Amino acid sequence: MQNYNEINHHFQTPQWVCDIMASLVDGSPKKILEPTPGQGNLVKALRHHFPTADIVLEHDILTLQTNEPVRDFMAMSPRPVDWVVANPPFTPMTLGYQMLDRFFSFSPNVIALMPWLVLINSQARTAQLIQRGLCHVIHLPRTAFPGARVQTCILKFKEGHKGTVSLTFVEAP
Ligand SMILES: C[S@@+](CC[C@H](N)C(=O)[O-])C[C@H]1O[C@@H](n2cnc3c(N)ncnc32)[C@H](O)[C@@H]1O
Repeated sequence: MQNYNEINHHFQTPQWVCDIMASLVDGSPKKILEPTPGQGNLVKALRHHFPTADIVLEHDILTLQTNEPVRDFMAMSPRPVDWVVANPPFTPMTLGYQMLDRFFSFSPNVIALMPWLVLINSQARTAQLIQRGLCHVIHLPRTAFPGARVQTCILKFKEGHKGTVSLTFVEAP
């Protein structure tokens, strides 16, 4: 098994990016999966947006670190959740693509921070992402991950979405 604790640990998600990702979750989800929690920044933002009183009863946020005996997301058996919200590792890039594919085994509603390349380097993949309900792309500035060579964006997929995909450019605060 890969030592995933060593993979991409330098690129934990900054708080302001976590807040954007959490704010993209629609409705009142009962279960949100953060499949690769790392140091837990995204989990914290999700807990903040879907606060404590509701977490146990209605907003059960699963994390591999706290609730799962199996810590490798790739070995976790699919089970239904309302949303997957993730910043997976994408070194190597194929691992990021495999993880993105796998998110859809848990939910059709996915918010994933990914390299821009995922959208533009394969016509077949682009078509697949649109078919999966891609509805919003948020372009992140390079400064979001100092030292990273990869241009990133946040992809939002919503069950049943067809048609326009909106694009938003955000700046670091
Ligand atoms: C880019 S970091 C993002 C961490 C966290 N999601 C956040 O938002 O701050 C990717 C994380 O994925 C974890 N990771 C890598 N492979 C994994 C796997 N197979 N299962 C679970 N986590 C994994 C690494 O430990 C790393 O912390």
